Amino acid sequence: MEFHHIPVLLDDVLSVLTPSPGDRYLDLTLGGAGHASAIAQRILPSGSLVGFDRDPDAQRAAQAKLALFDIPSTFIQESFLDMDVSLRQHGFQDREQGGGFDLILADFGLSSHQIDEPSRGFSFLTEAPLDMRMSQSGQTAAEFLQTTTPAALADILYQYSDIRQSRALARRICERAADGQLTTTTQLADVCCTILGYPRPGHPHPATRVFQAIRIAVNKEFDAIDAFLRDIPKWTRPGARLAIITFHSGEDRRVKEAMKSWQHPCTCPPKLPVCVCHKLPIGQTITRKPIEASPQELTQNSRARSAKLRAFLFK
Ligand SMILES: C[S@@+](CC[C@H](N)C(=O)[O-])C[C@H]1O[C@@H](n2cnc3c(N)ncnc32)[C@H](O)[C@@H]1O
Repeated sequence: MEFHHIPVLLDDVLSVLTPSPGDRYLDLTLGGAGHASAIAQRILPSGSLVGFDRDPDAQRAAQAKLALFDIPSTFIQESFLDMDVSLRQHGFQDREQGGGFDLILADFGLSSHQIDEPSRGFSFLTEAPLDMRMSQSGQTAAEFLQTTTPAALADILYQYSDIRQSRALARRICERAADGQLTTTTQLADVCCTILGYPRPGHPHPATRVFQAIRIAVNKEFDAIDAFLRDIPKWTRPGARLAIITFHSGEDRRVKEAMKSWQHPCTCPPKLPVCVCHKLPIGQTITRKPIEASPQELTQNSRARSAKLRAFLFK
């Protein structure tokens, strides 16, 4: 299947990042390079690009698209969980060493290609191996369900997708996985229905949030976001702009808290007359409230419906 993905909130990303010729651009989630190619055009002729994506399909598609621009590019097929180490291994220098980036974009979650390609196992609309690995390597979702415990799985279902019957569902899933009866997407969807109820017209399929929670766990998505938010200030040049698009409340909460702590880092009790922690702001939020897709964008791309864009300007 040809790679397809419509970049979400593209005009808003361009307006908060304000790319200009010569900028050094770091894209943590290249996908099909929809955002990256719009930015690449604007940082020519002297700009440069570094692009992460852990998915080999995305890397291939992005590299082919970006080859149309004559721009020095480095492609890193790894998780941004290890961004700090990977950038150093590729010879990049951080802010303290006089390096870093002017524009940074992270557009979390899955590409449409990953969701729509049946063999990737992210969707229950077609029978396929229960895979769900963005990187196409490591433990599959089927293997994860065979090795996890009902208690750990219940926590994942509840914390990542707010599933109320998480304990009963986790027990049922673990029983079926142990019996070797949970190797395909539709088998997992069927088990979900036995506890959560059967699909009803006009309502999302009951398995939707279960697939979301298991996908987040299999890909360790929140660990990667936490590591990225911890390390990214080191990789900014003075005046750098960071834009982050989230699709899940757990992602957005992390981004919001990180940006708040960068702008208001003081940890002194409010009663103290003067600050004694001496932590200084490292910049300010550009988006007071997150930017969401316009009705017009939603008519063209329904997958933008839960997208939230936050942006930050570093000193
Ligand atoms: C929403 S898509 C990005 C789309 C892209 N902005 C575009 O315009 O085409 C998210 C991409 O991020 C990648 N991704 C998600 N988490 C990642 C991680 N921790 N490390 C590297 N890539 C990741 C996925 O493989 C996917 O290709």
